[in-house]
Amino acid sequence: MTANGAGGEGIAQAIRELRELRRGEGPFDLRQAFDEDPARAADFSAEAAGLFLDYSKNLVSRAAWTALLALPERVGLRAEIGAMFRGERINRTEDRPVLHVALRAPREARIEIDGRNVVPDVHAVLDRMAVFADAVRGGDWKGFTGRPVRQVVNLGIGGSDLGPAMAVEALRPWSERRLGVHFVSNVDGTHLAETLRPLDPEETLFVVVSKTFSTQETLTNAESARAWCLARLKDPAAVARHFVAVSTHVERVRAFGIDPANMFGFWDWVGGRYSLGSAVGLPLMIAIGPSRFREMLGGFHAMDRHFAEAPSEGNLPVILALLGFWYNNVLGAQSQAVLPYDQYLARFPAYLQQADMESNGKSVDRRGRRVAYQTGPVLWGEPGTNGQHAFYQLLHQGTKLVPADFIGFCRSQNPLGDHHAKLMANFFAQTEALAFGRTEEEVAAEGVAPDLVRHRTFEGNRPTNTILAEALTPAVLGALIALYEHKIFTQGVLWNIHSFDQWGVELGKKLAGRILPELTSDAPLAHDASTNALIARFRASRAP
Ligand code: F6P
Repeated sequence: MTANGAGGEGIAQAIRELRELRRGEGPFDLRQAFDEDPARAADFSAEAAGLFLDYSKNLVSRAAWTALLALPERVGLRAEIGAMFRGERINRTEDRPVLHVALRAPREARIEIDGRNVVPDVHAVLDRMAVFADAVRGGDWKGFTGRPVRQVVNLGIGGSDLGPAMAVEALRPWSERRLGVHFVSNVDGTHLAETLRPLDPEETLFVVVSKTFSTQETLTNAESARAWCLARLKDPAAVARHFVAVSTHVERVRAFGIDPANMFGFWDWVGGRYSLGSAVGLPLMIAIGPSRFREMLGGFHAMDRHFAEAPSEGNLPVILALLGFWYNNVLGAQSQAVLPYDQYLARFPAYLQQADMESNGKSVDRRGRRVAYQTGPVLWGEPGTNGQHAFYQLLHQGTKLVPADFIGFCRSQNPLGDHHAKLMANFFAQTEALAFGRTEEEVAAEGVAPDLVRHRTFEGNRPTNTILAEALTPAVLGALIALYEHKIFTQGVLWNIHSFDQWGVELGKKLAGRILPELTSDAPLAHDASTNALIARFRASRAP
């Protein structure tokens, strides 16, 4: 029986065994591990879909790694991967398949849901998107007054914002520079107002993206955007030239006033945070063009195949998942840093935050019982080298264990003087410094005053993964995203939780719905004393 086949007790038992193994080994020291094992760097590295992963600088002995590598089989990972790729309804609490892998399957592939091959549907939407994207890029899609579109504004939030926003930034070198692509997500009117301030309605296209087409923030922004547009263009018929929708919900799109002919559909088996490869990627396709978009899907697919086929010991998503599990469940780390050394990946940590924390921030197992172990970590990060001058102090000398993924590229898209060499010198230096530190003896030998030696010592032994690729191309970005998607999936299997629902976002939405009318009335308040007092203060400050 698999660990999770045993109902989750199996994984708790596996954690106890791993902790026992760890205790039995005594302190683990990276310096010593590298000194004693010349093959460590070569053996603790793997490569797939254009990504090279060096995981040798982790606090894992060969014995511990062997024990970790037994986990996928214990939890039945192969069968779980098969169930996802076959379109089984693995999102049980919402009774849906989870098939983002179908979004990047080649045309000739066959993936069925209830006997229907969904791959032709996927490609039919991609083909429609391509025609539309080319029309916008080529200036053939005209606004209501006959002027070509110059500005594209994405209105969406969460998975309907973070993926395309991250990817438009990441793939800027391939973008059509004639077009501005903007993202408005926050219901704070400032976001929309400041974005629209320099734009001209006559040459602005809004892409309203919402899987459910019921999300308060997105619909509020879309209504205000429509009012902004019509204030200039006067005629409601202008909406058809300036608004398109991306959604699974045709009736709500129609009710909003967008012609379903201008809607790009996707399906309930695509989770919001896994939707970049669907029509949600439309603003990205407009920015970089259909063929680059397809290259990105090719990168996703290459990693999908790798995940489905490679044995655990060489399987990049599985390796990252097992290491994360080790820190989270055996060594007690609370967070995971992701540190891209590429300015184009500035939004990558924010994107991964939703992917990881909305998926694995759960505290009941698949049978609805409170888990007896830690699940998803707090994920955070910023691009290097900026982070070095901000929070790296804590990474190097703080009291917390923070495993970190460093992501870098051999070639820059902007080879400017020696910038890239300097960037990458920092990239390599940081993981070296974190792993091997500087001992008191070494610091003293440098002539540092005795009372400063302790302050200037680096314990080292701080774990990192290094992900190195040739260049940040569309295909490499696709592979990178899929790497983390499948890492998250694998960890969800290890923790025996449901990774593809997000019930935890509901209560706040519901309470906001109750509070909204209270802000503009003087009816008695029936919340807790703190919330009552805060709302009363807000009301008082806005009283005429
Ligand atoms: O509130 C969370 C969430 O449901 C995310 O899972 C989702 O990506 C986001 O809201 C936006 O949802 P929609 O695309 O339906 O507007």
